[in-house]
Amino acid sequence: MRSHRTNYLFIPILILVISSLAFASERQPNSEYQARRKALAAKAQGGIVLLIAPGENDGPNAIYGFRQDENFYYLTGLTDPGAAILITSEVEVLFLPPRNAVQERWTGPKLNPETKGISGITGFDKVRPLSSIPDELAKIVPSGLTRISLYTDTTKESASTHLIEWMKQAGQIPSFLQIIDLKAVLGALRAHKSLGEIELLKKAADASVAAHLSAFNAIRPGVSEREISSLMQYEFGKRGCERPAYAPIVGSGINSTVLHYSDDSGAIHDGDLVLMDVGGEYSMYATDITRTVPANGKFTSRQREIYDIVLGAQQAAIDAFKSGQSTLGRGPNSLHQVAAEYINTHGKDLHGQPLGQYFIHSLSHHVGLNVHDPNDNVALGPGSVFTIEPGIYITEEKIGVRIEDTFYVNDKGELVNLSGAIPRKAEAIEKSMATGTNSNK
Ligand code: GLY
Ligand code: MN
Ligand code: MN
Repeated sequence: MRSHRTNYLFIPILILVISSLAFASERQPNSEYQARRKALAAKAQGGIVLLIAPGENDGPNAIYGFRQDENFYYLTGLTDPGAAILITSEVEVLFLPPRNAVQERWTGPKLNPETKGISGITGFDKVRPLSSIPDELAKIVPSGLTRISLYTDTTKESASTHLIEWMKQAGQIPSFLQIIDLKAVLGALRAHKSLGEIELLKKAADASVAAHLSAFNAIRPGVSEREISSLMQYEFGKRGCERPAYAPIVGSGINSTVLHYSDDSGAIHDGDLVLMDVGGEYSMYATDITRTVPANGKFTSRQREIYDIVLGAQQAAIDAFKSGQSTLGRGPNSLHQVAAEYINTHGKDLHGQPLGQYFIHSLSHHVGLNVHDPNDNVALGPGSVFTIEPGIYITEEKIGVRIEDTFYVNDKGELVNLSGAIPRKAEAIEKSMATGTNSNK
């Protein structure tokens, strides 16, 4: 009776251990990653893709915890350090490091080539030890060729570069392989998000919306920027985000005019504006949200004037969006130009000059596995996810205002604001800060 019961319990426990081994986060079904690999192989036009994930102790991973390489994650959904993939239109091989029981004592169990059911877990029919990369490469390089493309990450410090350099020196990379960086090809694929990716982007946004609403309740003169930054990180972490999607920016007074201020070390004073550019990352997917609020709950008339111009510029860009036509560039009819034109034709600085000179960054960027996802120049359409973030930064007046939301384009070509639940209008912000009714559930 007893041993029976133990066996019965063992199976679900084993499944639980294996699934927690494989995936620390929510992911798509294996078929989606397979489709991405097929799409990449097709774009490689007969070439070979070889990509290596970073090691657990590479660079900042040793101190801040391991974060998978985004391109490796995009193609596999695997968060295992030191893994590798070799892909052609005919062959897909996943390579895993051998089991390292000593390292597991430090950072927990990992997948390895001997893990039971490894093909079902990973979606790769062929899973081999990392040491067999040269053999598998030799098997798929057709004989008699004089030139073939090897797509990889050629960034100087990438794990792929290190391994390929090592293989070259060991004579394991045929000299006729032409090495090409895969980031441009993958960037174009990553620009269009699947429904599963949109779900994760929504979760990142929802958790971060709650963080902003909590900050509205907590901001008052005398509180420190760091307290607000910490509160926001707690709030999105509580809702499942694994880390901030970028260094949180909470800048008050003159700090609101510093675009990527991330010291968050100042005190918030009466009369300050407080700019919060803070977003969490959920299962590897980012969000990017900024709100600017008055420290004491009420904008001065000058702050309000500038605030309304930034809001007007954002709304003008939203209204100008056309699925299939708008792009993220700075061309004559771009959304950037619409916002810049709005800012430059509304209001003046203290010297009677137009305000265009104080909008000193781009209006938009893609958002996905990276908060600044790779840019491509194709028109925005269903599946695009990007920010609209005008800003005016007048150091002389200690007024910095940015309003930033993350949007996606749905299958009808409509723009959907993922962070639209946070008040944007000045009155709504003041009301929200006065009543303190924001949910903190
Ligand atoms: N949070 C960085 C940016 O807005 O691009
Ligand atoms: Mn942004
Ligand atoms: Mn931002």
